[in-house]
Amino acid sequence: MSRPGRSARWTGVALALVAIAIAFGSFEAHPQSAAAPVPPPAIAEVPPGQPSPAGEVPFNHQIHAGQFKIPCLDCHAYADKSPSAGLPSGRKCMGCHKFVGKDKPEVQILVKRFEDGQPLRWERVFAVPDFIYFSHRMHVRAKVECKECHGDVAAGKIVRQEKPFTMGRCLTCHEERNASRDCLVCHK
Ligand code: HEC
Ligand code: HEC
Ligand code: HEC
Ligand code: HEC
Ligand code: HEC
Repeated sequence: MSRPGRSARWTGVALALVAIAIAFGSFEAHPQSAAAPVPPPAIAEVPPGQPSPAGEVPFNHQIHAGQFKIPCLDCHAYADKSPSAGLPSGRKCMGCHKFVGKDKPEVQILVKRFEDGQPLRWERVFAVPDFIYFSHRMHVRAKVECKECHGDVAAGKIVRQEKPFTMGRCLTCHEERNASRDCLVCHK
Protein backbone atom coordinates (compact mmCIF):
# COMPACT_ATOMS: atom_id res chain seq x y z
CA MET A 1 0.00 0.00 0.00
CA SER A 2 1.58 3.32 -0.95
CA ARG A 3 1.29 6.11 1.54
CA PRO A 4 1.07 9.83 0.88
CA GLY A 5 4.14 11.85 1.80
CA ARG A 6 4.48 13.28 5.26
CA SER A 7 3.44 16.79 4.30
CA ALA A 8 0.43 15.57 2.28
CA ARG A 9 -0.59 13.46 5.21
CA TRP A 10 -0.33 16.35 7.63
CA THR A 11 -2.39 18.52 5.31
CA GLY A 12 -5.00 15.76 5.51
CA VAL A 13 -4.75 15.68 9.27
CA ALA A 14 -5.09 19.46 9.45
CA LEU A 15 -8.16 19.44 7.22
CA ALA A 16 -9.84 16.69 9.17
CA LEU A 17 -8.93 18.49 12.37
CA VAL A 18 -11.05 21.40 11.23
CA ALA A 19 -13.94 19.17 10.19
CA ILE A 20 -13.87 17.27 13.43
CA ALA A 21 -13.43 20.42 15.50
CA ILE A 22 -16.50 21.84 13.78
CA ALA A 23 -18.43 18.64 14.29
CA PHE A 24 -17.58 18.63 17.98
CA GLY A 25 -18.21 22.35 18.28
CA SER A 26 -14.68 23.40 19.19
CA PHE A 27 -12.63 25.73 17.02
CA GLU A 28 -9.03 25.31 18.08
CA ALA A 29 -7.93 24.29 14.58
CA HIS A 30 -6.25 26.38 11.89
CA PRO A 31 -9.02 28.63 10.59
CA GLN A 32 -7.54 29.22 7.08
CA SER A 33 -8.00 25.59 5.97
CA ALA A 34 -11.71 25.61 6.87
CA ALA A 35 -12.96 26.06 3.30
CA ALA A 36 -11.04 23.13 1.76
CA PRO A 37 -12.85 19.81 1.15
CA VAL A 38 -12.09 17.05 3.59
CA PRO A 39 -10.72 13.78 2.18
CA PRO A 40 -12.41 10.67 3.58
CA PRO A 41 -10.24 9.02 6.27
CA ALA A 42 -8.24 6.11 4.85
CA ILE A 43 -9.41 2.78 6.21
CA ALA A 44 -6.53 0.46 6.97
CA GLU A 45 -6.38 -2.40 4.48
CA VAL A 46 -7.60 -5.63 6.03
CA PRO A 47 -4.65 -8.00 5.84
CA PRO A 48 -5.18 -11.71 5.17
CA GLY A 49 -5.44 -13.96 8.20
CA GLN A 50 -3.05 -16.71 9.20
CA PRO A 51 -2.02 -19.50 8.44
CA SER A 52 1.65 -18.80 8.45
CA PRO A 53 3.47 -18.62 5.09
CA ALA A 54 3.57 -21.91 3.15
CA GLY A 55 5.90 -24.48 4.61
CA GLU A 56 5.95 -22.81 8.01
CA VAL A 57 4.57 -24.09 11.31
CA PRO A 58 0.78 -23.83 11.60
CA PHE A 59 -0.77 -22.41 14.76
CA ASN A 60 -4.31 -22.86 16.02
CA HIS A 61 -5.74 -20.60 18.76
CA GLN A 62 -8.85 -22.74 19.07
CA ILE A 63 -6.78 -25.65 20.38
CA HIS A 64 -4.43 -23.63 22.59
CA ALA A 65 -6.52 -20.74 23.93
CA GLY A 66 -9.95 -22.39 23.46
CA GLN A 67 -9.73 -26.09 24.25
CA PHE A 68 -6.69 -26.00 26.56
CA LYS A 69 -7.40 -22.53 27.98
CA ILE A 70 -3.78 -21.36 27.89
CA PRO A 71 -3.96 -17.69 28.97
CA CYS A 72 -3.35 -15.07 26.26
CA LEU A 73 -0.63 -13.43 28.34
CA ASP A 74 1.26 -16.70 28.57
CA CYS A 75 2.20 -16.36 24.92
CA HIS A 76 1.69 -12.61 24.32
CA ALA A 77 3.75 -11.84 27.35
CA TYR A 78 4.37 -8.11 26.80
CA ALA A 79 0.75 -7.03 26.38
CA ASP A 80 0.53 -5.68 29.94
CA LYS A 81 4.06 -4.23 29.94
CA SER A 82 4.82 -2.58 26.61
CA PRO A 83 3.32 -1.11 23.43
CA SER A 84 3.58 -4.46 21.56
CA ALA A 85 1.86 -7.60 22.79
CA GLY A 86 4.66 -9.78 21.38
CA LEU A 87 4.64 -13.27 19.86
CA PRO A 88 6.02 -16.45 21.45
CA SER A 89 9.38 -17.82 20.33
CA GLY A 90 10.03 -21.38 19.18
CA ARG A 91 11.59 -22.00 22.58
CA LYS A 92 8.31 -21.11 24.25
CA CYS A 93 6.39 -23.57 22.05
CA MET A 94 8.97 -26.26 22.75
CA GLY A 95 8.41 -25.85 26.49
CA CYS A 96 5.26 -27.91 25.85
CA HIS A 97 5.96 -29.61 22.56
CA LYS A 98 9.07 -31.39 23.77
CA PHE A 99 6.44 -33.55 25.47
CA VAL A 100 3.05 -32.82 23.90
CA GLY A 101 1.67 -33.85 20.49
CA LYS A 102 4.92 -35.37 19.22
CA ASP A 103 2.96 -37.83 17.08
CA LYS A 104 1.36 -34.97 15.08
CA PRO A 105 3.00 -34.09 11.74
CA GLU A 106 2.41 -30.32 12.36
CA VAL A 107 4.24 -30.56 15.66
CA GLN A 108 7.07 -32.45 13.96
CA ILE A 109 7.54 -29.47 11.61
CA LEU A 110 7.87 -27.27 14.71
CA VAL A 111 10.40 -29.59 16.35
CA LYS A 112 12.49 -29.82 13.18
CA ARG A 113 12.58 -26.05 12.69
CA PHE A 114 13.54 -25.57 16.31
CA GLU A 115 16.32 -28.16 16.10
CA ASP A 116 17.61 -26.54 12.87
CA GLY A 117 17.75 -23.21 14.71
CA GLN A 118 15.25 -21.55 12.35
CA PRO A 119 12.96 -18.87 13.81
CA LEU A 120 9.18 -19.11 13.44
CA ARG A 121 7.60 -16.72 10.95
CA TRP A 122 4.03 -15.49 10.98
CA GLU A 123 1.94 -13.19 8.83
CA ARG A 124 1.05 -9.95 10.53
CA VAL A 125 -2.74 -9.68 10.94
CA PHE A 126 -3.62 -6.56 12.94
CA ALA A 127 -2.02 -3.19 12.34
CA VAL A 128 -2.60 0.52 12.57
CA PRO A 129 -0.82 2.95 10.20
CA ASP A 130 2.65 3.93 11.40
CA PHE A 131 1.66 7.55 12.06
CA ILE A 132 -0.54 6.25 14.91
CA TYR A 133 0.64 5.72 18.45
CA PHE A 134 -0.96 2.67 20.03
CA SER A 135 0.10 0.83 23.15
CA HIS A 136 -1.24 -2.40 24.61
CA ARG A 137 0.03 -1.67 28.09
CA MET A 138 -2.38 1.10 29.04
CA HIS A 139 -5.36 -0.72 27.51
CA VAL A 140 -4.65 -4.06 29.17
CA ARG A 141 -3.99 -2.31 32.50
CA ALA A 142 -7.29 -0.43 32.14
CA LYS A 143 -8.93 -3.88 31.83
CA VAL A 144 -9.98 -3.51 28.20
CA GLU A 145 -10.29 -7.14 27.13
CA CYS A 146 -8.37 -8.54 24.16
CA LYS A 147 -11.73 -9.60 22.74
CA GLU A 148 -13.03 -6.04 22.52
CA CYS A 149 -10.41 -5.23 19.92
CA HIS A 150 -9.46 -8.61 18.44
CA GLY A 151 -12.76 -10.51 18.54
CA ASP A 152 -13.05 -14.03 19.92
CA VAL A 153 -9.57 -15.24 18.99
CA ALA A 154 -9.92 -18.40 21.11
CA ALA A 155 -12.93 -19.51 19.06
CA GLY A 156 -11.18 -19.57 15.70
CA LYS A 157 -8.52 -21.62 14.04
CA ILE A 158 -7.26 -18.63 12.09
CA VAL A 159 -6.87 -15.11 13.47
CA ARG A 160 -8.64 -12.63 11.23
CA GLN A 161 -9.18 -8.93 11.43
CA GLU A 162 -12.96 -8.74 11.06
CA LYS A 163 -13.12 -4.97 11.40
CA PRO A 164 -10.33 -2.50 10.62
CA PHE A 165 -9.07 -0.20 13.37
CA THR A 166 -10.65 2.96 12.06
CA MET A 167 -10.33 6.17 13.99
CA GLY A 168 -14.07 6.09 14.61
CA ARG A 169 -13.72 2.78 16.38
CA CYS A 170 -10.95 4.10 18.67
CA LEU A 171 -12.93 7.27 19.39
CA THR A 172 -16.24 5.52 20.10
CA CYS A 173 -14.69 3.48 22.88
CA HIS A 174 -12.65 6.42 24.18
CA GLU A 175 -15.85 8.39 24.51
CA GLU A 176 -17.67 5.54 26.28
CA ARG A 177 -14.78 4.98 28.71
CA ASN A 178 -13.85 8.58 29.27
CA ALA A 179 -10.40 8.14 27.72
CA SER A 180 -8.62 10.96 25.92
CA ARG A 181 -9.80 12.14 22.47
CA ASP A 182 -6.99 14.64 22.05
CA CYS A 183 -5.64 14.24 18.48
CA LEU A 184 -2.03 14.22 19.65
CA VAL A 185 -2.56 11.30 22.00
CA CYS A 186 -2.92 8.98 18.98
CA HIS A 187 -1.30 11.02 16.17
CA LYS A 188 2.48 11.24 16.46
C1 HEC B 1 -8.01 7.37 19.99
C2 HEC B 1 -7.09 7.56 18.89
C3 HEC B 1 -7.29 8.69 17.91
C4 HEC B 1 -7.58 10.00 18.21
C5 HEC B 1 -7.84 10.63 19.58
C6 HEC B 1 -7.59 10.68 16.95
N1 HEC B 1 -7.31 9.83 15.93
FE1 HEC B 1 -7.19 10.29 13.93
N2 HEC B 1 -6.80 8.35 13.48
C7 HEC B 1 -6.71 7.34 14.39
C8 HEC B 1 -6.46 6.10 13.70
C9 HEC B 1 -6.29 4.73 14.34
C10 HEC B 1 -6.37 6.42 12.32
C11 HEC B 1 -6.05 5.45 11.17
C12 HEC B 1 -7.25 4.67 10.77
C13 HEC B 1 -8.17 5.47 9.95
O1 HEC B 1 -7.71 6.09 8.97
O2 HEC B 1 -9.37 5.52 10.28
C14 HEC B 1 -6.61 7.84 12.22
C15 HEC B 1 -6.66 8.54 11.02
C16 HEC B 1 -6.83 9.89 10.91
C17 HEC B 1 -6.80 10.63 9.66
C18 HEC B 1 -6.58 10.01 8.30
C19 HEC B 1 -5.09 10.13 8.01
C20 HEC B 1 -4.62 9.40 6.77
O3 HEC B 1 -3.59 9.82 6.23
O4 HEC B 1 -5.22 8.39 6.39
C21 HEC B 1 -6.98 11.94 9.96
C22 HEC B 1 -7.00 13.11 8.98
C23 HEC B 1 -7.15 12.04 11.40
N3 HEC B 1 -7.05 10.77 11.94
C24 HEC B 1 -7.34 13.22 12.11
C25 HEC B 1 -7.56 13.29 13.49
C26 HEC B 1 -7.87 14.51 14.20
C27 HEC B 1 -7.96 15.87 13.56
C28 HEC B 1 -8.03 14.19 15.53
C29 HEC B 1 -8.44 15.08 16.71
C30 HEC B 1 -9.73 15.74 16.57
C31 HEC B 1 -7.83 12.75 15.64
N4 HEC B 1 -7.54 12.26 14.39
C32 HEC B 1 -7.88 12.05 16.83
C33 HEC B 1 -6.82 7.45 15.76
C34 HEC B 1 -7.12 8.60 16.47
C1 HEC C 1 0.25 -21.04 22.97
C2 HEC C 1 0.52 -19.70 22.57
C3 HEC C 1 -0.61 -18.70 22.32
C4 HEC C 1 -1.71 -18.44 23.12
C5 HEC C 1 -2.13 -19.11 24.42
C6 HEC C 1 -2.41 -17.35 22.48
N1 HEC C 1 -1.77 -16.98 21.33
FE1 HEC C 1 -2.26 -15.46 20.10
N2 HEC C 1 -0.77 -15.98 18.82
C7 HEC C 1 0.12 -17.02 19.02
C8 HEC C 1 0.92 -17.19 17.81
C9 HEC C 1 2.02 -18.23 17.59
C10 HEC C 1 0.49 -16.22 16.89
C11 HEC C 1 0.99 -16.02 15.45
C12 HEC C 1 0.24 -16.97 14.55
C13 HEC C 1 -1.18 -16.55 14.30
O1 HEC C 1 -1.43 -15.40 13.95
O2 HEC C 1 -2.08 -17.40 14.50
C14 HEC C 1 -0.58 -15.47 17.54
C15 HEC C 1 -1.27 -14.41 16.98
C16 HEC C 1 -2.21 -13.64 17.65
C17 HEC C 1 -2.83 -12.46 17.13
C18 HEC C 1 -2.54 -11.85 15.76
C19 HEC C 1 -1.24 -11.07 15.78
C20 HEC C 1 -1.06 -10.26 14.53
O3 HEC C 1 -0.27 -10.66 13.67
O4 HEC C 1 -1.72 -9.22 14.40
C21 HEC C 1 -3.70 -12.01 18.07
C22 HEC C 1 -4.56 -10.78 17.97
C23 HEC C 1 -3.66 -12.93 19.16
N3 HEC C 1 -2.73 -13.91 18.88
C24 HEC C 1 -4.44 -12.83 20.29
C25 HEC C 1 -4.53 -13.81 21.26
C26 HEC C 1 -5.51 -13.81 22.31
C27 HEC C 1 -6.56 -12.76 22.52
C28 HEC C 1 -5.28 -14.93 23.07
C29 HEC C 1 -6.08 -15.44 24.27
C30 HEC C 1 -7.51 -15.64 24.02
C31 HEC C 1 -4.15 -15.61 22.48
N4 HEC C 1 -3.74 -14.92 21.38
C32 HEC C 1 -3.58 -16.78 22.97
C33 HEC C 1 0.26 -17.74 20.15
C34 HEC C 1 -0.66 -17.79 21.20
C1 HEC D 1 1.27 -24.55 27.40
C2 HEC D 1 1.53 -25.63 26.44
C3 HEC D 1 1.63 -25.31 24.96
C4 HEC D 1 2.37 -24.32 24.36
C5 HEC D 1 3.21 -23.24 25.00
C6 HEC D 1 2.19 -24.51 22.93
N1 HEC D 1 1.37 -25.58 22.69
FE1 HEC D 1 0.88 -26.33 20.85
N2 HEC D 1 -0.37 -27.66 21.73
C7 HEC D 1 -0.52 -27.84 23.10
C8 HEC D 1 -1.50 -28.90 23.33
C9 HEC D 1 -1.97 -29.39 24.68
C10 HEC D 1 -1.89 -29.37 22.04
C11 HEC D 1 -2.87 -30.50 21.73
C12 HEC D 1 -2.03 -31.73 21.55
C13 HEC D 1 -2.82 -32.94 21.18
O1 HEC D 1 -4.00 -32.83 20.86
O2 HEC D 1 -2.21 -34.01 21.18
C14 HEC D 1 -1.15 -28.58 21.07
C15 HEC D 1 -1.22 -28.76 19.69
C16 HEC D 1 -0.40 -28.16 18.77
C17 HEC D 1 -0.31 -28.49 17.35
C18 HEC D 1 -1.09 -29.58 16.66
C19 HEC D 1 -2.35 -28.89 16.18
C20 HEC D 1 -3.17 -29.66 15.29
O3 HEC D 1 -3.57 -29.07 14.28
O4 HEC D 1 -3.47 -30.83 15.59
C21 HEC D 1 0.60 -27.62 16.79
C22 HEC D 1 1.05 -27.57 15.34
C23 HEC D 1 1.06 -26.74 17.84
N3 HEC D 1 0.45 -27.12 19.02
C24 HEC D 1 1.96 -25.71 17.64
C25 HEC D 1 2.39 -24.85 18.65
C26 HEC D 1 3.23 -23.71 18.43
C27 HEC D 1 3.75 -23.29 17.06
C28 HEC D 1 3.45 -23.15 19.63
C29 HEC D 1 4.22 -21.90 19.94
C30 HEC D 1 3.83 -20.72 19.20
C31 HEC D 1 2.74 -23.94 20.63
N4 HEC D 1 2.10 -24.96 19.99
C32 HEC D 1 2.77 -23.69 21.98
C33 HEC D 1 0.13 -27.16 24.09
C34 HEC D 1 1.01 -26.08 23.90
C1 HEC E 1 -7.79 -1.35 22.67
C2 HEC E 1 -7.65 -2.34 21.65
C3 HEC E 1 -6.76 -3.54 21.90
C4 HEC E 1 -6.74 -4.38 22.97
C5 HEC E 1 -7.57 -4.31 24.24
C6 HEC E 1 -5.77 -5.40 22.67
N1 HEC E 1 -5.21 -5.17 21.44
FE1 HEC E 1 -3.80 -6.30 20.51
N2 HEC E 1 -3.69 -4.94 18.98
C7 HEC E 1 -4.46 -3.80 18.90
C8 HEC E 1 -3.99 -3.00 17.78
C9 HEC E 1 -4.54 -1.65 17.37
C10 HEC E 1 -2.92 -3.72 17.19
C11 HEC E 1 -2.05 -3.27 16.02
C12 HEC E 1 -0.93 -2.47 16.67
C13 HEC E 1 0.09 -1.92 15.73
O1 HEC E 1 -0.08 -1.92 14.51
O2 HEC E 1 1.12 -1.45 16.25
C14 HEC E 1 -2.77 -4.95 17.97
C15 HEC E 1 -1.82 -5.93 17.71
C16 HEC E 1 -1.69 -7.11 18.45
C17 HEC E 1 -0.74 -8.17 18.17
C18 HEC E 1 0.29 -8.19 17.05
C19 HEC E 1 1.36 -7.16 17.25
C20 HEC E 1 1.95 -7.12 18.63
O3 HEC E 1 1.61 -6.17 19.36
O4 HEC E 1 2.72 -7.99 19.02
C21 HEC E 1 -0.92 -9.14 19.12
C22 HEC E 1 -0.16 -10.45 19.25
C23 HEC E 1 -1.99 -8.70 19.98
N3 HEC E 1 -2.44 -7.45 19.55
C24 HEC E 1 -2.48 -9.41 21.06
C25 HEC E 1 -3.33 -8.90 22.04
C26 HEC E 1 -3.68 -9.58 23.30
C27 HEC E 1 -3.19 -10.97 23.70
C28 HEC E 1 -4.51 -8.74 23.99
C29 HEC E 1 -5.10 -8.92 25.38
C30 HEC E 1 -4.14 -9.25 26.44
C31 HEC E 1 -4.69 -7.54 23.17
N4 HEC E 1 -3.95 -7.67 22.01
C32 HEC E 1 -5.49 -6.46 23.51
C33 HEC E 1 -5.50 -3.45 19.71
C34 HEC E 1 -5.78 -4.04 20.93
C1 HEC F 1 -12.66 -0.98 23.62
C2 HEC F 1 -12.17 0.29 24.11
C3 HEC F 1 -11.00 0.97 23.44
C4 HEC F 1 -10.63 0.96 22.11
C5 HEC F 1 -11.31 0.24 20.94
C6 HEC F 1 -9.47 1.80 22.01
N1 HEC F 1 -9.11 2.30 23.22
FE1 HEC F 1 -7.50 3.50 23.62
N2 HEC F 1 -8.02 3.57 25.57
C7 HEC F 1 -9.10 2.93 26.14
C8 HEC F 1 -9.15 3.23 27.56
C9 HEC F 1 -10.17 2.72 28.56
C10 HEC F 1 -8.04 4.09 27.81
C11 HEC F 1 -7.68 4.77 29.13
C12 HEC F 1 -6.60 4.04 29.84
C13 HEC F 1 -6.29 4.76 31.15
O1 HEC F 1 -6.51 5.97 31.22
O2 HEC F 1 -5.81 4.09 32.03
C14 HEC F 1 -7.35 4.27 26.54
C15 HEC F 1 -6.20 5.02 26.39
C16 HEC F 1 -5.52 5.22 25.20
C17 HEC F 1 -4.33 6.01 25.04
C18 HEC F 1 -3.62 6.78 26.15
C19 HEC F 1 -4.34 8.06 26.38
C20 HEC F 1 -3.64 8.96 27.37
O3 HEC F 1 -4.34 9.76 27.97
O4 HEC F 1 -2.42 8.84 27.51
C21 HEC F 1 -3.98 5.94 23.71
C22 HEC F 1 -2.80 6.60 23.03
C23 HEC F 1 -4.96 5.12 23.04
N3 HEC F 1 -5.87 4.69 23.98
C24 HEC F 1 -4.96 4.84 21.69
C25 HEC F 1 -5.94 4.09 21.05
C26 HEC F 1 -5.98 3.85 19.61
C27 HEC F 1 -4.99 4.40 18.61
C28 HEC F 1 -7.06 3.06 19.38
C29 HEC F 1 -7.58 2.51 18.07
C30 HEC F 1 -6.61 1.81 17.24
C31 HEC F 1 -7.68 2.80 20.66
N4 HEC F 1 -6.99 3.45 21.65
C32 HEC F 1 -8.81 2.02 20.81
C33 HEC F 1 -10.01 2.14 25.49
C34 HEC F 1 -10.03 1.83 24.14
